[in-house]
Amino acid sequence: MTASHMMKAVVFERYGAPEILSLREVPVPVPSKGEVRVRVHATTVNRTDTATLRAHPFFARAMTGLLRPKMQTLGMDFAGQIDMAGEGQTRFRTGDRVFGLSPDLFGAHAEYLCLPADGAIAHIPGDLPYDQAVVGEGGWYADGTTGLLSGGARCLIYGASGAIGTAAVQLAKAKGAHVVAVVGTRHLDLARDLGADRIVNYETEDFTATDERFDVVLDAVGKTSYFRCRPLLKKDGVFAATDLGPGWSNILLGTLYGIAGSGRVRVPFPQDAPGFIQRLADLMAQGRFRGVFDRSYPLGEIVEAFRYVEAGQKTGIVTLTIR
Ligand SMILES: NC(=O)c1ccc[n+]([C@@H]2O[C@H](COP(=O)([O-])OP(=O)(O)OC[C@H]3O[C@@H](n4cnc5c(N)ncnc54)[C@H](OP(=O)(O)O)[C@@H]3O)[C@@H](O)[C@H]2O)c1
Repeated sequence: MTASHMMKAVVFERYGAPEILSLREVPVPVPSKGEVRVRVHATTVNRTDTATLRAHPFFARAMTGLLRPKMQTLGMDFAGQIDMAGEGQTRFRTGDRVFGLSPDLFGAHAEYLCLPADGAIAHIPGDLPYDQAVVGEGGWYADGTTGLLSGGARCLIYGASGAIGTAAVQLAKAKGAHVVAVVGTRHLDLARDLGADRIVNYETEDFTATDERFDVVLDAVGKTSYFRCRPLLKKDGVFAATDLGPGWSNILLGTLYGIAGSGRVRVPFPQDAPGFIQRLADLMAQGRFRGVFDRSYPLGEIVEAFRYVEAGQKTGIVTLTIR
């Protein structure tokens, strides 16, 4: 294989800590019929990547591989240029600037990525730089919850400063909801900029000490619980979470309420990534959605990037620049 058929990619062959990730030369993938190849310019390191690396929670192995990971390269978000358009698709041409998600096979922590042309991929709106177009992962998880909202609904977002929380505030506002955002002191201005109608500082106030009642309370960072938030819910209100909850309570209660048919507690698994990415592209083009970015790492500092994201203190999105 010649050097031009090789690319740099971050590889992992077993589950474990960030230190097992290694930057290697691997063959450049070739698009199959109906696929496109993207020359990746920017990607992200996010909580889905860190959880998949460690196979946490354990049952996620049912999707990612029981003993060893099915995929060898992580990276769900990508932004780049179409470098080769396979036969049988007319949606993209070589040179098109695109962004999207690779939710099943990952693979974006690499110089090239192949995916179906009818997958979760869309044109980047206007001249938005690649490193500001890697906005899919947090938004997709947020969409599972904000999809429950309609115009005029009241929504409280706990932890509105992470990748999911910053996206949730904007998606909820785009749906016409009234949004209360709960964040720490350093993120008060950010929550205001994102359009929250009221902001509560969890470091100095008790966010449950209010007479306001909500259609949806979203725990976007896995730091509160249904029992704490229950008094905030309207009679038919929904508590949604992105994490297991204390003692797996969100999974347990979600299952019980699901069986009972009320859906009062939910851990929504995001659906329809292709449809979501197109809606996101439209919202970005209309100036109604933007990524919130924390910091950027070069591909060679992948271990540091994973360690930082795992610490759970990032503001919005951490990017990885490939070129
Ligand atoms: N299993 C999976 O595949 C998967 C995938 C995606 C996400 N998730 C889960 O979804 C959650 C959110 O993901 P994310 O990427 O949005 O998180 P993230 O970006 O890592 O969230 C970090 C933010 O949380 C805030 N925060 C930390 N402690 C807080 C607290 N006690 N109360 C309120 N805010 C707090 C931090 O701000 P301050 O320091 O200012 O508080 C920081 O801005 C995580 O729990 C993650 O595990 C799971």
